[in-house]
Amino acid sequence: MRDLTSDPVRVSQEGVPDSDYLGFIKNVKQHTGIDLAQYKEAQMKRRLTTLRNKNGFSTFASFYTAMIANKPLFYEFLDKMTINVSEFWRNPNRWETLRDVVLPELASGNSRLRIWSAACSTGEEPYTLAMILNDHGLLQRTYLLATDIDDGALGKAADGLYLERSLKDVPPDVVKRYFTPDGVMYRIDSQLKKAVTFKKQNMLLDEFEDGFDLIVCRNVMIYFTEEAKQMLYHKFAKSLRPGGVLFVGSTEQIFSPGNYGLEASETFFYRKKG
Ligand SMILES: C[S@@+](CC[C@H](N)C(=O)[O-])C[C@H]1O[C@@H](n2cnc3c(N)ncnc32)[C@H](O)[C@@H]1O
Repeated sequence: MRDLTSDPVRVSQEGVPDSDYLGFIKNVKQHTGIDLAQYKEAQMKRRLTTLRNKNGFSTFASFYTAMIANKPLFYEFLDKMTINVSEFWRNPNRWETLRDVVLPELASGNSRLRIWSAACSTGEEPYTLAMILNDHGLLQRTYLLATDIDDGALGKAADGLYLERSLKDVPPDVVKRYFTPDGVMYRIDSQLKKAVTFKKQNMLLDEFEDGFDLIVCRNVMIYFTEEAKQMLYHKFAKSLRPGGVLFVGSTEQIFSPGNYGLEASETFFYRKKG
């Protein structure tokens, strides 16, 4: 039997040459602008192989052909490649730091605020921001942008209806003030909904707006390759105003923030020098 570990041509677990997956990456990029090569390969390939097999295709080439001809299958692909898991007040002590330390500093002497939730998924993150801003009396003077690559997630964010489990970390008084029970769901307050501008955006490809006081980008960088992360840290730093802050996820510490013109402030918060 051939020893595959010493074979110069890498093969996947199923014995299908990697060129099949590489061809899929190329086709998806040409057709949608989404560059799967900028996501960690092992994880992404595992998820997409599961989806492909579940739909009865043995190669990525045949899966791609079917996906392009069949919109529901394409949306299933989008859903699988974007992991939309989110919660309100995810890692509550970090949001407390934002509320009690970072935000008051950013707001002092600043008549208008520009805040961006990048990769906002189904809206829990920008609505958490909106609650905190409203409690500080800052919501009316804030431009609050929320973006994601996934139309389906953005649609759910705009609906603003959530299952109880995504509210598990929300303080009970906050639940009372900002949610109304609606059957088995909870409906977000309409004032908060109006305060958020949702837009579709592929962070790896599209231009960023600039002059932000605060950018929140959490629990998405972990899916990207090292090169993609570095490119994004540069882009985020560029779109912050001097003194502005980047708030990252609790497993997403930035190792050499100085390389991007950032400096660590509170844990998981990085301030743009200047
Ligand atoms: C795990 S969720 C994180 C949601 C939220 N930030 C949080 O921490 O709870 C990751 C989100 O990243 C989005 N995403 C993945 N690739 C993206 C890209 N290239 N541009 C913008 N959003 C992307 C996915 O659609 C998904 O909604």
